[in-house]
Amino acid sequence: MPMERPDPGYRNEWRQMQAKAGLCQAVASHRGFFLLHVPPDIGTKADGTLSMAAEELAMKSITDGAAPDSADAARVLLDRLGDRHIVLVGLMGAGKTSVGKRLAQRLGLPFIDSDHAIEESANMSIPDIFKSLGEAEFRSGERRVIARLLGEKQQVIATGGGAYMDGETRLRIREKSVSLWLKAELPVLMKRVLRRQDRPLLANTDPEATMRDLMARRYPVYAEADITILSGDQPHESMVQAVIDAINRHLEQEAKA
Ligand code: S3P
Repeated sequence: MPMERPDPGYRNEWRQMQAKAGLCQAVASHRGFFLLHVPPDIGTKADGTLSMAAEELAMKSITDGAAPDSADAARVLLDRLGDRHIVLVGLMGAGKTSVGKRLAQRLGLPFIDSDHAIEESANMSIPDIFKSLGEAEFRSGERRVIARLLGEKQQVIATGGGAYMDGETRLRIREKSVSLWLKAELPVLMKRVLRRQDRPLLANTDPEATMRDLMARRYPVYAEADITILSGDQPHESMVQAVIDAINRHLEQEAKA
């Protein structure tokens, strides 16, 4: 379906996102963000933004309707994914649950949050598990529950922030799913985590220092996920579209390899 030309406001937003992310080439239109394939010879400038030639090409592909219709993109994704799960990893506040739920809805797949599954099987809240059983017990429960979820029928799984740090869990995720790291900057994470008081690791006098420390230790490991995508302040629906396009691009490359 042909699309309208994005308005100039969106183009600015797009440029900012480009410069910040440096991860993907995305174009925003009134229908959301679309990742585009831009030939490397006209690709990016030193600051990570698209060159003029690449930008013109990207705009042309939007106005020509080259970006896939969203329903088509979802169909293509499911076809390429086969029976694998989609697993979201990332730090507390990265948006794994809110993006995961919407992604599942768009793809017509069930959604499960591993923290909820742990609470259900322990019949206890996460803070209570930490308090009465300790973190080590929580982690082994988390490992068991995620192994079980990965053995179930295809679904979108949002994992707790520490889950992917476990080597066995990472291996199982790699075998059974396509993994996606929702990467976010500290201010975005802080704004979100401060809205809730139920995260035991942040129940201290300096949650920001804790988050910095977790970022330093965990980001190199999260980077092992199949796909990395920047999670900022964009509307959820745009984020979901960007996620679908990023997964499609990964699966396309995987099929070519
Ligand atoms: C944790 C993250 C939490 C939860 C637990 C520990 C972590 O999940 O599993 O509090 O180690 O980062 P969210 O990432 O969903 O907040």
